[in-house]
Amino acid sequence: MFGQQLPLLFDPDALPAGHREFLAHYAGATSVDNQALYRKEASRTGADTADFLQRSPVGTSGDLHSISARRLRWWQQSLKAKGWLEPVSGKRGHWRLTDPARKALTPQGRGRVLLGYSTDLGLALWSNSEDVFGHLGEPISLVLTSPPYPLANPRAYGNVPIAQYVDWLCSMLEPLVRNLDDGAVIALNVSNDVFETKSPARSTYRERLVIALCDRFALFKMDEIIWNCPNKPPGPIQWASLERFQLNTAWEPVYVFTNNPHRCLANNRRVLQAHTDRHMALMKKGGETRTRTNSDGAYRIYPGSYGTLTAGRIPKNVITCSNSKSDPDLKRAKAMARQDGLPLHGAPMPLELANFLVQYLSEEGSLVADLFAGWNTTGYAAQINGRRWISAEKHGEYVAGSAERFSRFNGFERAC
Ligand SMILES: C[S@@+](CC[C@H](N)C(=O)[O-])C[C@H]1O[C@@H](n2cnc3c(N)ncnc32)[C@H](O)[C@@H]1O
Repeated sequence: MFGQQLPLLFDPDALPAGHREFLAHYAGATSVDNQALYRKEASRTGADTADFLQRSPVGTSGDLHSISARRLRWWQQSLKAKGWLEPVSGKRGHWRLTDPARKALTPQGRGRVLLGYSTDLGLALWSNSEDVFGHLGEPISLVLTSPPYPLANPRAYGNVPIAQYVDWLCSMLEPLVRNLDDGAVIALNVSNDVFETKSPARSTYRERLVIALCDRFALFKMDEIIWNCPNKPPGPIQWASLERFQLNTAWEPVYVFTNNPHRCLANNRRVLQAHTDRHMALMKKGGETRTRTNSDGAYRIYPGSYGTLTAGRIPKNVITCSNSKSDPDLKRAKAMARQDGLPLHGAPMPLELANFLVQYLSEEGSLVADLFAGWNTTGYAAQINGRRWISAEKHGEYVAGSAERFSRFNGFERAC
């Protein structure tokens, strides 16, 4: 059951394995010329390029040809016939993915880990996260991630059905849990909008997930932060707009777990907000002058209450931010992805949310990981806050598309 490929809307898995791996050479590239293709394929198979291209007599004429190069050109022709590849007109020997193929997603094969890009602080890997996090040489301080949600209508990158979801997510997280620093944090953004089949009743998978993570991995639940998203489109349509049982959804939970609550690396001093003018004035005058007790005595005000000058306001655990705000790096990356015909990601985390969580839940210089990276918002938030980061994303197009977000940072190198 575990390690299964998620179902895709456009399925390269329908192709023979050799074709799929061959197509991966074209993922994220504008075009690839045949000489580069031969080098890539030689390196993929562990051969030297000269050996790979070695010629031998072919057919009755005995003319010398490279059998390997011929095989690749044959694959180009059959993938052209199937609509996946096309030659670039006016550029002999250059081929590229067709427009529909570009919009499809190319999943990395199991067991393969390729570097997408890197900066002085982090690595973005094109890989299934199952192949990455069991082998890290150093402990992780923060896992900040948003897994594919168990939706009835999957997004382009697919998802695991609800019945298997809790076990699947636990199995995905297990290698990271084994590699956590003392007091490290796992922050999981999941969906609240998952319903029982044909029912307006919400699934209790979130509750089961929390219990499973605490019971199976000895994690502790620190909080369930509410991400309030004011521009969420109306929904669930069936149960709110049509049948009127439900209200429109405005929020998603972000669960915060740790392996050691008393040494937890979360620290609200890193995210203090400015005091209101009213509170500043109250502190300046030395606090309250009144004495007041509410009806049952649970809440009392004395002269001097709220008079201590503090560095800032402790944020509430409801974070309000829209998911439509963009920043210049994201805008540039989106424009380039469109130009290169790469699909944009359908569900990136808002930077404001990731930024807040990275600051609150991790220390500068520590290691932040995302096992479902998408357009790598976690890596980006880690980068701009001076944390080191490692991210794994299964689909090559998202790795290639997000690279441009990081191009202005020190040590940026693109491998895809
Ligand atoms: C909800 S999205 C994450 C979006 C991300 N937080 C962002 O800001 O762009 C989930 C991502 O997990 C990826 N994914 C699914 N299974 C994976 C796996 N086994 N290994 C790595 N990535 C995977 C999907 O391709 C998808 O991009």
